[in-house]
Amino acid sequence: MKVAVIGAAGGIGQALALLLKNNLPAGSDLALYDIAPVTPGVAADLSHIPTPVSVVGFSGQDPTPALEGADVVLISAGVARKPGMDRADLFNVNAGIVKSLAEKIAVVCPKACVGIITNPVNTTVAIAADVLKKAGVYDKRRLFGVTTLDVIRSETFVGQLKGLDPTQLDVPVIGGHSGVTILPLLSQVKGVEFTSEEIASLTTRIQNAGTEVVEAKAGGGSATLSMGQAACRFGLSLVRALQGEANVVECAYVEGSGEHTRFFAQPVKLGTEGIEEVLDYGVLSEFERASLDDMLETLSGDIAKGEEFAK
Ligand SMILES: NC(=O)c1ccc[n+]([C@@H]2O[C@H](COP(=O)([O-])OP(=O)(O)OC[C@H]3O[C@@H](n4cnc5c(N)ncnc54)[C@H](O)[C@@H]3O)[C@@H](O)[C@H]2O)c1
Repeated sequence: MKVAVIGAAGGIGQALALLLKNNLPAGSDLALYDIAPVTPGVAADLSHIPTPVSVVGFSGQDPTPALEGADVVLISAGVARKPGMDRADLFNVNAGIVKSLAEKIAVVCPKACVGIITNPVNTTVAIAADVLKKAGVYDKRRLFGVTTLDVIRSETFVGQLKGLDPTQLDVPVIGGHSGVTILPLLSQVKGVEFTSEEIASLTTRIQNAGTEVVEAKAGGGSATLSMGQAACRFGLSLVRALQGEANVVECAYVEGSGEHTRFFAQPVKLGTEGIEEVLDYGVLSEFERASLDDMLETLSGDIAKGEEFAK
C-alpha cells in the first residue's frame, strides 16, 4: 500500500506521518508532500526510524510524485483556525487548495481513496466530489471527510466522565464536522447510562472540543496531535480494509443515501474498494432526533457552498 500525506509539513501532517511510519503494515510506502521546502527533510528525519515502511518527501508546486500510485491520500493541506475563528472562516483559502489538489488526484491517482482533513470538512468534501465528478472519475466509495477526531474525543470524554477505559468504548458520531452538525450518539454507548444533563453537557463539549484546543493554543493553531492520531486510526482502518480485512467500520463524512443531506457522517463498513456499505446509524433518542433536525439547515448550507464553489 502507498499512502500519501498532503500538507505533510504541517502540525497534523507531521504527527500523522510519524504515526504512519510507525504503524503502517510492513512493506508499505509513505509519500509526503507539502508546498513547504522542509518536506524532504521531514521525510529524511522519519526515514531514520527503524520500521519496515519506506518514506519519501516532496515539496514545491507539484504533488504528482507523491500522488503517483497512491492507494490512500490523506489531505491536511491548508490553514488552521486561530482564536475567534470558526471552521467556515477557513473557506476562502482552503477551498482553492482542496480544489486544485482534487484536480491533480483526478489525473494522477483517480482510483485512490481520499480522506479530507482540511476544514471546513462539511464543505471541502463537496468541493472535492464535484471536481472529481467534473473530471469523470468520481466514485463515492472512495471519498471521505475525516471525522474520526470527533469519535476519539467522544470516547475520551465519556471515559473520563464514567471512569471507564476509553479504548473499550465505541461512540458513533453522525452529521458533519463543525459545531451543531457534530452529533455524538451517546444513547448507543453500550453499558453506560447518562442523565439528560450529562447528555446535554457532553454533547456541547464534544461539539466545542476543537475550540477548546484553539483557545488553549492561544493563536498557535488548532488540534494537531489528536488529529494526527485520529487520521492515523482512519488511514490504518482504510489500509486494513483495502488489504481484505473484513468488518472494518469507522464513522466518516461520505455521500450516502441522501436521506438527510448529500454528504453525512455515519458509520461505514470499509472494504477492498473503499466503502463497502454505508451503515444505518440505528435508533436515535428524542434528544438526538431533535439535534439532527436542528443541524440539517446548517449542514445543507455548508454543502451547497462547496457545490457552488466547485462550479
Ligand atoms: N478534520 C478535522 O477534524 C480537523 C482537525 C483539526 C484541523 N483540521 C484542519 O486541518 C488543516 C491543517 O491543519 P494544521 O494544524 O496541520 O495546519 P498547519 O498550518 O500546521 O499545516 C498546514 C500545511 O499545509 C501546507 N499547505 C498549504 N497549502 C498547500 C498546498 N496547496 N499543497 C500542499 N500543502 C499545502 C502548509 O505549508 C502547511 O505545512 C486545517 O484546515 C485545519 O482546520 C481538521
